[in-house]
Amino acid sequence: MSKPTILTGIRANNDLHIGNYFGAMLPLIDMAKHHSDEYDVNLFIPDLHSFTTPIDHSQLFASIMNNARVYTAAGLPLDNDSINLYRQSYIPAHSELTILLNNFTGFGEMSRMTQFKDKSGKLGDGQISVGLFDYPVLMAADILLYNATYVPVGDDQTQHLEITRDIAERMNSKFGELFTIPEPVAKQHEFFGKDQGLRIKDLVDPSKKMSKSDDTGRGVIFLGDDPEAARKKIMSATTDDKASVAYDKEHQPGISNLIDILALLRGVSPQAVAAEYQGMERYGEFKSIVADSVAEFLTDFQSRLATVDDAAILAKLERSERAVSEIANATLLRVQKAVGLRAQ
Ligand code: ADP
Ligand code: TRP
Repeated sequence: MSKPTILTGIRANNDLHIGNYFGAMLPLIDMAKHHSDEYDVNLFIPDLHSFTTPIDHSQLFASIMNNARVYTAAGLPLDNDSINLYRQSYIPAHSELTILLNNFTGFGEMSRMTQFKDKSGKLGDGQISVGLFDYPVLMAADILLYNATYVPVGDDQTQHLEITRDIAERMNSKFGELFTIPEPVAKQHEFFGKDQGLRIKDLVDPSKKMSKSDDTGRGVIFLGDDPEAARKKIMSATTDDKASVAYDKEHQPGISNLIDILALLRGVSPQAVAAEYQGMERYGEFKSIVADSVAEFLTDFQSRLATVDDAAILAKLERSERAVSEIANATLLRVQKAVGLRAQ
């Protein structure tokens, strides 16, 4: 009996910040390492999903490889055979199953997908593609091909997980046990722990989360920032007039955010950092400790990224792609037989 599967898509755009790193990437890598004894962990780059809205195609190939490089630099192990790392478009079964599932998916239920409504609302008429509309069905295929039980996704993706379950249940009741139904969202949260992440705040406006969509970039530490520039961003972070370091998110959100950042960089609790610097009066002094630590982290991360072994990454991708193709093709054949495209 094979192990149950945990599966998720990993998207790394080119402007990742320390919020993404500590809030999404590291927890995912830890999760993969932690569960790989008991589960197969499938991490894949959803490259077919990357142009459902218009992009610069001359950059796509490099950015797919960059995804894998960033995760490797962040500590994703390449030598663990229970952790598969693969590119969606290298396994044609994703596309083929999507076409089949499309015929068992309602136009009405797809029209209710919040992400489609949001994204299409922001595009001009001529720019809304069928690909954008069909995104959730491709995502369902990604999941169902590998009989995945657990699928860690952000809140914005839970509706897509629900529609995956709906499609799978519908087909199972029509054709018999075709698909493993992924656990419902509540069970997923139980398994992975809801609200794993604290949110790093914007340095200029600590009432909002650090986000790539910040206009000036002054409140955000990007992984690609020059360490000296990042140091300056920390030194000019918004604080308060209390002149006493304390971990109090309500009354001292700026200082508390710097405590959170330092705690993440050191891998300790914010309480431990707060205890160490409690009452320090000169914020400049505390900021320069955080700034040094941020600059050191960036220097280190950037040098790891520059020296990841591209040949080892490619070999890992190809090895995983061969291994997971077998599972994907077996599922596809099961569906093809069920719908009458192949002999029983
Ligand atoms: P952004 O807000 O920069 O566009 P995304 O929405 O693309 O970031 O988020 C990608 C992942 O990073 C999500 O899992 C999200 O929870 C995590 N993340 C984003 N911003 C932060 C933050 N400020 N602190 C912690 N985690 C974050
Ligand atoms: N849609 C996901 C996101 O935007 C990425 C993704 C594609 C995915 N296919 C998936 C996640 C299958 C989990 C399972 O983050």
